[in-house]
Amino acid sequence: RIAGPCGLVIFGVTGDLSRKKLMPAIYDLANRGLLPPGFALTGFARRDWADQDFGNVVYEAVREHARTPFRQSVWDRLAEGFRFVPGSFDDDASFDQLEKTVRDLDRVRGTGGNHAFYLSIPPGAFPVVCKQLARSGLSAQNGDQWRRVVIEKPFGHDLRSARELNAIVNDVFPEDSVFRIDHYLGKETVQNVLAMRFANQLFEPIWNAHYIDQVQITMAEDIGLGGRAGYYDGIGAARDVIQNHLLQLLAFTAMEEPVAFSSDELRAEKIKVLNATKLVGPLHETTARGQYEGGWQGGEKVRGLTQEEGFDPESRTETYAAITCEVATRRWAGVPFYLRTGKRLGRRVTEIAIIFKRAPHLPFDSTMTEELGQNAIVVRVQPDEGVTMRFGSKVPGSQMEVRDVTMDFGYGTAFTEASPEAYERLILDVLLGEPSLFPVNDEVERSWEILDPVIEHWAAQDAGPDPYPAGSWGPESANRMLARTGRTWRRP
Ligand code: BG6
Repeated sequence: RIAGPCGLVIFGVTGDLSRKKLMPAIYDLANRGLLPPGFALTGFARRDWADQDFGNVVYEAVREHARTPFRQSVWDRLAEGFRFVPGSFDDDASFDQLEKTVRDLDRVRGTGGNHAFYLSIPPGAFPVVCKQLARSGLSAQNGDQWRRVVIEKPFGHDLRSARELNAIVNDVFPEDSVFRIDHYLGKETVQNVLAMRFANQLFEPIWNAHYIDQVQITMAEDIGLGGRAGYYDGIGAARDVIQNHLLQLLAFTAMEEPVAFSSDELRAEKIKVLNATKLVGPLHETTARGQYEGGWQGGEKVRGLTQEEGFDPESRTETYAAITCEVATRRWAGVPFYLRTGKRLGRRVTEIAIIFKRAPHLPFDSTMTEELGQNAIVVRVQPDEGVTMRFGSKVPGSQMEVRDVTMDFGYGTAFTEASPEAYERLILDVLLGEPSLFPVNDEVERSWEILDPVIEHWAAQDAGPDPYPAGSWGPESANRMLARTGRTWRRP
C-alpha cells in the first residue's frame, strides 16, 4: 500500500538514528514507490541550516546507508519536499515557524494537513516538545486530517517514569495517534513468528508445555559501547534490550492466536500474555548480569566498558543481562523462558530457540543415542535470517545409531525479495496509520512492571556486575543460572 498525502517532521535530525536509519529508510520507501508524490520531510534542530544544508545531510546519509540503489530522479523528486526549521525545543517562535512551514507544505506539496512528528530525542525532552506541539496548534487534528507522534525508546527507565511519560504524551495525542517504536517488530523474521505459528498446522499442536522443555531468547552483539556513554551509562542491558525487544519476542512466541489479524486483536493477545508473564525467583539465582572487560575480539584489541570514553571508571552499568520468566497459563505452565542479551559477546546473533523435551522412550541401545540432543526449532532473527529445526537421524551404516541433524529454511534461498529494513516498514505503517506493530502504553508499562524487581534487586547488591572477557558468551553466573535446573545455554 502507498501512503496517502502526508509529511513527516523529525526532531533530533542531527542524531545517529536519523542519519543511519530514518533518512535512508525514507529514501528507500520513495525508491520503492511507497511514498505519496508530494511527500515532505522537515528537519528541526538547533543548527543554523538552510533547506539546502539539510538536503546535503540527508543526501550523505542516503548514499552511505540506503538499502536500495541510488536513482537521481527519485532523489530529485524527494528532495523538493525537504524543509529545515532551526530552533530549540523551548523556543516558541521556532515552533510557530514550524507550524507555518507545515501549513505551507499543505499548499505547495499537497500534504493535505496530515503530519507525523518523529521524536528521535532523549525522553527528557518529550514533555517540552509535546507541550510545544500542543501550544503551536501542530498536534490539532481537524476533520479528516491526521496528526501522529512517533516516539523512540527508552520509554522511561522504570514503571513510574514510563507512566509519567505516557501521561504527558497522551495529554497531547490520543492513544491511537501515538506510535511507539520497537524496531524489532519491524523485522521480517519477528513478524514471521506469527505466520509460522498461525498459518500452519505443523507447529501449534506441539507449541506448549506438554512438549516444550524451555525457551531461550538471545540477542547477542559483538560491538562494544564506545561513543554511547551518554545514553547507556546508568541504563544497562536489561533496560536497553530486555524491557522492550526481548519481552516483545517473548510475547510473539507465547501469545495465543488472535481472533483476527487486526491490530486490536493482536495487541489484546500480547497484553494478555505479558500480564501472565512473571519473573521466576529467587533473583540471585535466576538472573545474571555482567560487564565486559578488555581483551581480544576478532583479532582486535578492545577496551573494557569502564575504559570506554565517557563511562564512569567506577561504572556498575551491566552490559550483559539474563533473566528467567514463566508464563503462567495452561499452555506454558512450568516452561522457563530464558532471556539474555549482551554487548561484546562471541558474535552478533538474535534467535528464539524452542527446545523440546526428550522423547519419553527410546527403543534403541543407549550407546547408539549418545549424540542425540533435544529437538529444537530455532527462529534465526538475524543475521542469516531463517528457521532451523534440529532432530535426530540415523547415521548411515549397519547400526541404528542416531545423531542430531538440522533442516534449514533461509530467507536468502527461499525468497528473491530482499527484506526491507525494519525502520522502512515501521515508518510506512506510521504514515498509513497501521498500528499493529507498535506497542501500546499498557504493554510498555507491563514490561517495566515485569523488569523493575530485577533492576531493584541488582541495585541493592553490594557487588556490581560480574566481569566477563570481551568476545566470550557472558559471565559464569549466567551459566550457573541455568545449571541449577540442569540446563545449559545454547551456543548460537
Ligand atoms: C537498540 C539498542 O534498540 O537495538 C542498541 O538500544 C542495540 O543497544 C540495537 O545495539 C540493536 O539493533 P539491531 O537491529 O542491530 O539488532
